Amino acid sequence: MNPLDATKSGFLACVAVCTFIYTFLYLKDTLPAEPDERKLSATRAECGFYPDELCSALFVGKSAALQIGSVCQSSYRPAALSCIRTSCNCSTALKALRFITRPLSDEEGSFSLAYIITIHKELEMFVKLLRAIYMPQNIYCIHVDEKSPSDYKAAVQNIANCFENVFISSKRESVVYAGFSRLQADINCMRDLLHSKIQWNYVINLCGQDYPIKTNKDIIKYIKSKWNGKNMTPGVVQPLHMKHRTQVSYREYVQSGTSYVYPTKNAKTKPPYNLTIYFGSAYYILTKEFVEFTLTDARAKDLLEWSRDTYSPDEHYWVTLNRLHDAPGATPTADWEGNIRAIKWKDQEGTVHKGCKGHYIRDICVYGLGDLQWIIESPHLFANKFEPATYPLVMDCLERRLRLKVLHQAEVPIEDDWRFQADNSFNMQLNV
Ligand SMILES: *[C@@H]1O[C@H](CO)[C@@H](O)[C@H](O)[C@H]1NC(C)=O
Ligand SMILES: *[C@@H]1O[C@H](CO)[C@@H](O)[C@H](O)[C@H]1NC(C)=O
Repeated sequence: MNPLDATKSGFLACVAVCTFIYTFLYLKDTLPAEPDERKLSATRAECGFYPDELCSALFVGKSAALQIGSVCQSSYRPAALSCIRTSCNCSTALKALRFITRPLSDEEGSFSLAYIITIHKELEMFVKLLRAIYMPQNIYCIHVDEKSPSDYKAAVQNIANCFENVFISSKRESVVYAGFSRLQADINCMRDLLHSKIQWNYVINLCGQDYPIKTNKDIIKYIKSKWNGKNMTPGVVQPLHMKHRTQVSYREYVQSGTSYVYPTKNAKTKPPYNLTIYFGSAYYILTKEFVEFTLTDARAKDLLEWSRDTYSPDEHYWVTLNRLHDAPGATPTADWEGNIRAIKWKDQEGTVHKGCKGHYIRDICVYGLGDLQWIIESPHLFANKFEPATYPLVMDCLERRLRLKVLHQAEVPIEDDWRFQADNSFNMQLNV
C-alpha cells in the first residue's frame, strides 16, 4: 500500500468511525431517558429475542447481520448456564443443561466413540462442548491440567459425577505447550479408556477450544464411509524445516506462571528401529486396536521414549506409527486427508481461507462472527479455535444450529428438555 492510499484508507476509516459514533450519540440523545434495565433489555432484544434469525443471516454472510451482530456482541452476554456456579442435583443439572439422554438412532447406539478432552480453563466452554458431543453410548475421558485451580478441578469432577460414561483421567499432567506432557496427557486417557468396561470403536481427541460442526451421526457416517477400520492421522514425511524438532534435545521449562519448551545444544540419536519420522496433526481419530498397538508394540514404546525430549511430539508420534505397514488400521500412503479439524492458519490466508475475522493466536484464528459462514461450509468434523468470552454470539449460533440438526436427524421421540429453542417463525435454515 503506498503512503497516499494508507492516508486515504485511514481517513475513510476515521469517517466511518466518526459517523458511527455520531449516529450512536445522536440516537442516544434522542431516546427518552430510560432506566438501565430497559437499556439492557433493548440490547438483549437486538441479539437475543430472535437469535436464530440473526444467526441464519450470519451463516449466509449477510453484511447487515455482521454489523448488527458486532454491535450487539460487544454488550451481549448470553444467559449463564444453570447448575454451573450453583449446585444442583444431577437430574436437575442434566435437564437444565439439555443433555441428550438416549441414543438417537440404532446406528449410533451400536457404534461408540471415545473422546479425550484436554482442558485447563473456562468451565462454561467445557460444558458447552461436552453437551454438544455427549451421547449416552459414548465414553469421555477428561484430562484436567494439573496446574488448574482446585475449584476448577472440583467443578469438572462434579459434572463428571453425574455420568456413568464421563470420567477424569486417573493421572494428570502439567501440560506445557509443544511439550511431551501434551502427548502424555492423551496417553493417560487412552490407558483409562482401554481399561473401561464400556466398549468403543474409535477415539477422538479434543481440546477446550474445539467445537463440533457435525452431528454424532454425521461423524459416524463419515468414519464408516471413508475410513472403515482405518486411522485418521493427517500428515506427511517430516519436511526439512521441521527437522530441528527431532534433531536436538528439547527441555520443558516449568515455573509458576510460565512454562515453555526450549532447545538445548545436545544432538539427538537417530530414531529407534530406523523409523521414518512423519509430521502432521496432533488431532486424530484412531481405532481401539491401533490404540492397543501404540501402548504395547516395542517400536511404539521406544519411539515414545525417544520422543520425550523432542519439540511437539504429538505432531509426529501418531502419524509416524500410523504409517507403519503392520499397525492395525494403518494408512502407510496417506497424506493430509482426513477432515478432522477446520482451522484457519495464518499462513493459509488467501488459499484455504480469506482471512480471520476474529483474531490470531499463535497463527491460528480465533473465530469471529464473520467466520461463521466459512465454518459451517467446512467439510471438517470439528473446528478450532473458539473463545466465547470474546465472541459469545459465535458459540451461541453454532450450538443452536448443531442442536437443531441433531434433533432433526433423530429417529427416536424427542424430549422437550433437549431443545435449545422453541419453534418459531425464525427457526434457522439448516442447509445453508
Ligand atoms: C433434585 O432437585 C430437584 C429440585 O431441587 C427436586 O425436585 C428433586 O426431587 C431432586 N432429585 C433428587 C433425586 O434428589
Ligand atoms: C535406515 O533407513 C535409511 C533410509 O530409509 C536406509 O538408507 C538405511 O540403510 C537404514 N539403515 C538401517 C541400519 O537399517
